[in-house]
Amino acid sequence: MVPKVGLVGINGFGARHGKVILDLMQRGDIECTAFADIRVDPENEIYKGLVTNGAKHYTDYEEMLNNHDDLTFVVIATPIALHRPMAVNTLRKGFNVLLEKPPAVTIQDVDEIIETSRDTGKLCAVNFQNTSLRSFLQLNDMIEQGELGDIDRVVGVGILKRTDDYYERTPWAGKLIHNGNYVLDGTINNPLAHILNNCLIVAGRGDSKKAVPSEVQAELYKGHKIEGEDTACVRICTDNDVEILFYTTLCHKTHVTPYIVVHGTKGKAIWTYENTLKIQYIDGKDVIFSYGREMAMENIYYNLIAVDRGAEERLFSSIEDCRSFVLASNGAFESCQRVIAIPDEHIVREKEDNTIATYIYDIDKIILQASQSGKLFSELPVKWAVSTERFSLDGYSEFNLFTDK
Ligand SMILES: NC(=O)c1ccc[n+]([C@@H]2O[C@H](COP(=O)([O-])OP(=O)(O)OC[C@H]3O[C@@H](n4cnc5c(N)ncnc54)[C@H](O)[C@@H]3O)[C@@H](O)[C@H]2O)c1
Repeated sequence: MVPKVGLVGINGFGARHGKVILDLMQRGDIECTAFADIRVDPENEIYKGLVTNGAKHYTDYEEMLNNHDDLTFVVIATPIALHRPMAVNTLRKGFNVLLEKPPAVTIQDVDEIIETSRDTGKLCAVNFQNTSLRSFLQLNDMIEQGELGDIDRVVGVGILKRTDDYYERTPWAGKLIHNGNYVLDGTINNPLAHILNNCLIVAGRGDSKKAVPSEVQAELYKGHKIEGEDTACVRICTDNDVEILFYTTLCHKTHVTPYIVVHGTKGKAIWTYENTLKIQYIDGKDVIFSYGREMAMENIYYNLIAVDRGAEERLFSSIEDCRSFVLASNGAFESCQRVIAIPDEHIVREKEDNTIATYIYDIDKIILQASQSGKLFSELPVKWAVSTERFSLDGYSEFNLFTDK
């Protein structure tokens, strides 16, 4: 039987799912009988492709679920604040779910999804698609086999550029809370969430459940005129004694390929988003693996289908695997308590095409220096940096900051 998928959200990043689904349909590996979105353009290529191939459009996703009880799984690619209610509801109605990242904003929400998945016996995979890349799996295999010795520090770096039109694309972009619901949109929860999640997996030697954050110290900044953070440095201690350092910005002039550096007693590994892995052993030997372009989202779809059929045992990224990520994210906001606006004198705002580009002076150099020395920005001579407190996550079970917004 060809698995049947339903898609919720077909614009924005949902369009990427639409494309994956159409490609898999063309190969005969999947069928899409229904999709839901409150806003569709009949001229949209994904809309036309899905309808032409026999999928029915709904504006109400619950009506879609009620009318298609034979769906093998439902993809949820909607705004962040809808992830928890939609995932819980869809699981409770008896469907497997493929949920966009971040799976939930707060620890109480991710715990509710985990519990619902357990109660219902339904799978909940999360589209942290970079967990499926061959270079990343190779890195975890090598760590597991002891190739790098004991891992004591993992450093994730993401330096990207986002102009004002990025924040204008959807009403929740750059918000902490939208319509009364947490979003905490920013580098940690959105564009660079993959790096933080992969750092936690590496710290747990291939399993983020074995690297539970116990303490977090974070500095959260904004260069753009937004509510949320667009620049951050975070230090996380895990219960298996690994230190994770995570540095991000969306205020650079260009994109730098995001990467993770793993420091072990026998050597160092450098993994990048470009599906490359370099191992530098302390004896001077270097080994490089390069796997080229891989369809990471397709891997996630095939893996979910295989696990559902019992042909594979483990999801690349299950909802349980994401708990450490949500804990780290909540801990970062608890540690900083607010988002610190970087004073205008350290920022350049320029017109670029029909939008505005925002840069923080020398942010790439600051991140490089911090990441190489294992320091937070306030521990370096950075004029705009503000020091914060360490936050213990011992027994932590509820996030409730910013409720006055
Ligand atoms: N995995 C990745 O690499 C990656 C990359 C980018 C974005 N994302 C994630 O994708 C998700 C969507 O982000 P976006 O920027 O596309 O958001 P968006 O605000 O553009 O919304 C996505 C779609 O959901 C639809 N939608 C909104 N409310 C709905 C409802 N009640 N029922 C049905 N459809 C509804 C919207 O009309 C839109 O088509 C976010 O969680 C984001 O973090 C993931």
